[in-house]
Order: sequence, then C-alpha cells, then structure tokens
Amino acid sequence: MKYLDLNAQYRSIKKEINQAIQNVLNSGQFILGKEVEKFEKEIAKYCDTKYAIGLNSGTDALLLSLMALDIGPGDKVITTPFTFIATADVIVLREAQPIFVDIDPKTYTLDPHKLEKTIKHISPNRRKKIKAIIPVHIYGQSSDMDAITSIARKYKIKVIEDAAQALGARYKGKPIGSIGDFGCFSFFPSKNLGAYGDGGMIVTNNKKIAEKIKLLRIHGRYQKYVANMLGINSRLDALQAAVLNVKLKYLNSWIRSRQQKAAVYNHALKNIKQIHTPFVEKHNTHAYHQYTIRIKQRNKLQTYLHQHTIPTIIYYPVPLHLQSVFRDLGYRRGDFPEAEQASKEILSLPVYPELSNKNQSKIIKTIKKFYA
Ligand SMILES: Cc1ncc(COP(=O)(O)O)c(C=O)c1O
Repeated sequence: MKYLDLNAQYRSIKKEINQAIQNVLNSGQFILGKEVEKFEKEIAKYCDTKYAIGLNSGTDALLLSLMALDIGPGDKVITTPFTFIATADVIVLREAQPIFVDIDPKTYTLDPHKLEKTIKHISPNRRKKIKAIIPVHIYGQSSDMDAITSIARKYKIKVIEDAAQALGARYKGKPIGSIGDFGCFSFFPSKNLGAYGDGGMIVTNNKKIAEKIKLLRIHGRYQKYVANMLGINSRLDALQAAVLNVKLKYLNSWIRSRQQKAAVYNHALKNIKQIHTPFVEKHNTHAYHQYTIRIKQRNKLQTYLHQHTIPTIIYYPVPLHLQSVFRDLGYRRGDFPEAEQASKEILSLPVYPELSNKNQSKIIKTIKKFYA
C-alpha cells in the first residue's frame, strides 16, 4: 500500500494528460504563454479573485508576496510554528523577523486570541514593524479568517494566506485564498492539485500588487532586458500549466472523494476513545489534503501500522521554533505548548481519491486491532 499513489491518478487521466503535454511540445512555448494564462484565468475563477499569477512554487508565492509588500530587514511577520518550513524560511530570506504564535489545538491553525495578545505585547513603536500575518490553512482546513483579518485591519497589517495545502477549501462559503490580501498556493505533486514538477500561484484582488508580482517573477523587467526593481525568476512553465489545466477539471470530484474517505474514517474510528479524529469548524469545508488523527501513543501506533505495511506520515514532527535553522530567533522548548504537544501526537493516514475501499478497510481494521 502507498501513502499516496500518483501513478494511479495518472492512469485515470493518462490520455488527456499525454495529449496536453504533446500539445505543449508541438507549440514550442515552454514558459508562461497560453497554457499558463488559461490556468491563471481558471484559478482566479475557482478562487473568486480578480487576479492569479503563476509561479515556480508555493515557496515563491510566499516569497513574492513579501517582496510585493517590500518586507525586508527590520520588519516582522507573524505566523504559526506548526507548518512546513517554507512558511517561515521566506521571512528569514527577506531578512525580516518571524514572530510565532501558537495554534488552536483542535484545528492546528493560528489561534486568533493568542495572535492579538502577542501583538498587544509588543511596544507600539516595534508594533509598527509588523507588516504581515501568514495564517496557514494546515491539512486543508481554513484558519479563522474573520478573526484574523479583523485583527489585521485593526493594526494595519497585511494578511498572506498560506493556502499551499488547501486549494478548494472554503471558509463561510468563501474560497480560501480570496479572503486575505494574498492567497498562496503550491502545486507540488502531492498536493490536492499537483503538477508533475514544481508550481505555485498567488491570487489577489489588488491590481497594483498583481502587476507588481508579474514583474517580480521575471526579474522586475518591464521591457525586455530593462528592469526597475529587483526580482527573481519564478515563472510557471507551460508543461506544468497544461497538466494542471487537465487536472483542475477533476479537482472538485477528487476533493469530494477525499471528504468521503474522511467520513468513512470518522465513522469507523469514532468509538475508539483514544483517537481524536479531525475537528472541523462548522463554517469550514475541509479539503482533506491530509487526514490527521491525534493520539497519545502515536509512535507505537505508527510502528504497528508500518509492521502491517500501512504507511503513515507525521506532518510535522518538529515545530518551527525548535528547528535548528531558526535557532537565532531565540525561541525555546515550552514557548508554544500547543504546537509542541500536537507534533508529538499527530499522525496522517492515507486519504487520496484512488485509495481503494479494501485498503482503507485494512487501515481501519489494523487500527482497531491495535486498540483491541
Ligand atoms: C504549508 C505549506 N507552505 C508552503 C509550502 C511550499 O510549497 P512548495 O513546495 O510548492 O514550494 C508547502 C508545500 O509543501 C506547504 O505545505
């Protein structure tokens, strides 16, 4: 059994994918161009935003959001320590300072109460240096965006949604990515909408910012070989866009399938009192990029499942404030107890659309056996 079977997905849409790739090869247009423009239009429509800009990766989407806001040395950016390393990497790469805020233990997303407490705790002069908040819609569930955006407005801080894991999720009916100032997506192959390589996207409703990001992704050039701002090379390539254009048509049905598999797990595991199945806020539509349970005996259960050839993954075993790359920030063990505790107790189970009923039953039976 595989944790994720990208081959099975490819086999199910092979003819269309091969044709789309062949069309790009025939066109001779490999970077940006028609396929990328089409994909940008489709994603803007899907997310209900005015603009979408195709980029090299989700990491670049976060980085270019910071660059578009001129965030740099001396500035501060708030985010959660319970996320993939890229979320905070980009802040440090801009020579700004990440400020971590602990998570809500039920949804694993940024806790708005702690967010405001942290902001208030910073002296008014230093507070002015807080330029952005990056809530992370971890596992495919939205952060509490009303609370976060209202705090952001109060303190005049921009909101960059790290929606890398959550394309297709909704918050109070709104597509995630469309709620903050920017929405950042990743098309890393394992994502709900995955390319056959790297890919990323920023969505926004701000025309000026969208135009700036379009320049930043091509070295700040506004004419061929003439630049007036420092940018990078972060263009989505046409082969990836062609693949993504095919796959986007299936995204909603794939998400429904993930939700159905999640419901099967929820039902089957609900009577095992040691297991916390994912908590979903009533107003959220979870895209189930991951189906993550929480248990005290996590390592034992994971070993047992592996002995029975069932793959599982821990996203993420070390919260960012305890990672050696962020040592210079001065955080210590105990600073973010909810993130630390969650990282010891979380375990993600296979939940992709092609997971067979037989394999899902085997996973459930084996978990039940462990607790029997
Ligand atoms: C929460 C989060 N942020 C950012 C990223 C970075 O995206 P990418 O791998 O496309 O650079 C990822 C992807 O793994 C992610 O899960």
